[in-house]
Amino acid sequence: MALKALKPIYVLGTATSHDGSACLLKDGKIAFAIEKERITRKKHDGGNDNLAIQYCLDAEGISLDDITLIVQNDNFSDFKYGNDYLGGERLFAVHAHSKIETISHHLAHAYSAIGTCPFDDFNLLVIDGCGSPFDQCIDNLGAVPDRNKIAAAPHLFCEKDSFYSYANGQLKTIMKDFSPYGYLHQYPNYPNSTKDSIGGLYAGVSIYCFGDHADPGKLMGLAPFGKPNVFNEKIFDLDDGRVFVNYDWIKNYQQPARNYEEFKQKFQYFADIAYGVQKEIERALLYLIEHRLALHSSENLCYAGGTALNAVANSRILKETSIENIYIEPAAGDNGLALGCAYYGWLEILKQPRIKHSGSTCFGARYNSKAVENAILNISSKLTPALVAPCIHQLFYYLNSDKYFDQLKEGLIQFNLNKVGVYQLLAKGGKITCYPQVIAEPQSSITIDGVDFYRFLENPQLAEEFLLTGQMKFSNPAGLKLLTENFDLSEIFKQLSKPKIPPSRYQKSEFIAKDVAQLLASGKIIGWFQGGCEFGPRALGRRSILADPRNKQAKSFINSRIKFREDFRPFAPSVLKEDMSIYFDIQRESPYMILVDQVRPEWQDKISSVVHADKSCRVQTVTPDWNKAYYDLITQFKQQTGMSVLLNTSLNRKGMPIVETPEDALSFFYECELDCMVIENYIVYKSVIG
Ligand SMILES: [Fe+2]
Repeated sequence: MALKALKPIYVLGTATSHDGSACLLKDGKIAFAIEKERITRKKHDGGNDNLAIQYCLDAEGISLDDITLIVQNDNFSDFKYGNDYLGGERLFAVHAHSKIETISHHLAHAYSAIGTCPFDDFNLLVIDGCGSPFDQCIDNLGAVPDRNKIAAAPHLFCEKDSFYSYANGQLKTIMKDFSPYGYLHQYPNYPNSTKDSIGGLYAGVSIYCFGDHADPGKLMGLAPFGKPNVFNEKIFDLDDGRVFVNYDWIKNYQQPARNYEEFKQKFQYFADIAYGVQKEIERALLYLIEHRLALHSSENLCYAGGTALNAVANSRILKETSIENIYIEPAAGDNGLALGCAYYGWLEILKQPRIKHSGSTCFGARYNSKAVENAILNISSKLTPALVAPCIHQLFYYLNSDKYFDQLKEGLIQFNLNKVGVYQLLAKGGKITCYPQVIAEPQSSITIDGVDFYRFLENPQLAEEFLLTGQMKFSNPAGLKLLTENFDLSEIFKQLSKPKIPPSRYQKSEFIAKDVAQLLASGKIIGWFQGGCEFGPRALGRRSILADPRNKQAKSFINSRIKFREDFRPFAPSVLKEDMSIYFDIQRESPYMILVDQVRPEWQDKISSVVHADKSCRVQTVTPDWNKAYYDLITQFKQQTGMSVLLNTSLNRKGMPIVETPEDALSFFYECELDCMVIENYIVYKSVIG
């Protein structure tokens, strides 16, 4: 029976995995939720959840005292062999009266889908890199193969995949599989995951191809450039409904890319690997799903866990199995755990009724006109990340000019600005070029907190103090010694002038959709910031970079001059739902860019900036119900041009979380070649209008 309450019932969900997040449910509906990386500006940030929790409380205007129940998933800080992801006391540790429940990892993934999916009865699949250890799982373990063996094992076994059914408000475990943890250290490029997980394998191959694990999804984008029958390794052993990873194939692959330059030099080699691995992953997933459907069939499938972000595999699951309807939780990775924790609390602990979710993914705080206007007016008087690049450029110009710094005269130097970003400077032929990204392995690096860097720019004399206290560090000790002993830093830093940008030019529009559509139609590339931010890895019209898909230069321009990322990476199209079948071979709605479809042949050349190498694209269908501002914009664009498609990519650059605040958006705007930044009904330009 539903609780009778005079004031709202708040349930707080929180998760401390990588991609940490918090979610506030108000009377069973999401009031606010945020990923930690959006606040700290550090990609995939996790661990201590104080900032994410405080964000949700502030957005709602309440305190922890107003929370009825806190539910957490915290398995990575609770490994019995020692792990501390938390990094300090948690906010609710001092609120002894808060009731705190802990749930296991796959159960949290499962409830993130249960809370947000459109179905009543359905099957539910969770697959990821590494879930909770066996002895922390609180769902039914009766359906685990080798259960007794795992329970007696002297080492960790963690959740790998879990299959449930949900009917009449009851979750039932059909089958769960576990995998040993920490067995892969003998292999190069091993992922930090369990041995037999599909997600872990994917991460490992991504590290092999790109030299980092920042964005494993890139592998899916690379695959269409590969050739069939070049990489023919059988990675997966499929037996008795279970998937096992055979890592021995890695022995034949000993040439990993250590950086982007190496990746580019051997592009086809890595593309062929991506092609073959993608096919193997699809083979394993289809096998696993067919097996689970034989155990318990349903035409509806909910799917969560990081593996569910593989849009190409998802489309094959829908086409090639008996599943009629699929719901992939848009925050399928560990960022979605907080949602699941909150819904578990509401449904299973408080025993409250399930309230159907609207389908929205936009759970961030809104910024009113005053906040937007203040950000626009103040951006020119503040030192922001946008201004860092020229400052570093200037600093190195002076450093390079001295005879003591021969080792810096030619080469690559990396500047690590905590919470701001990584910049690399290439000194060559008397010229220094500054890159706001990693282009190659540096010879030396300098690390300083971003805040300290701004203080240093305001007061250059602080540099000596920072060097002595270690707040500024050189990776090359000889360089540090030379710097402190032989160089009058204060003289150099005095010469560094405070960078200046002109005041922002902006206009307030009464017809924002019409005005922005006009800008897009005239070839402008626009930053688009509306309402609360999306929760999850995709920008769906709240924090987006938008362009006319007919602009043939848009793809390479946005990749190289705005997002500073690899040129092979594709962009997705947004289309009015009612027009989707004009342009795409698509049979169903696709609001989350998480399924792949083919572009119709007659449109492939016309909208080439959103067409991938294999003529596919990750379509976003747009409706007005929870995406009205974006729907209105595309409708206006259609009225002006006849085209109801826009190129849509997230408002960030490589390695940077999607912008959260108007200040973040404006900083980003000034450090790339976006033409305009639209925030609510303000249009900001870099130069004088007209
Ligand atoms: Fe996970």
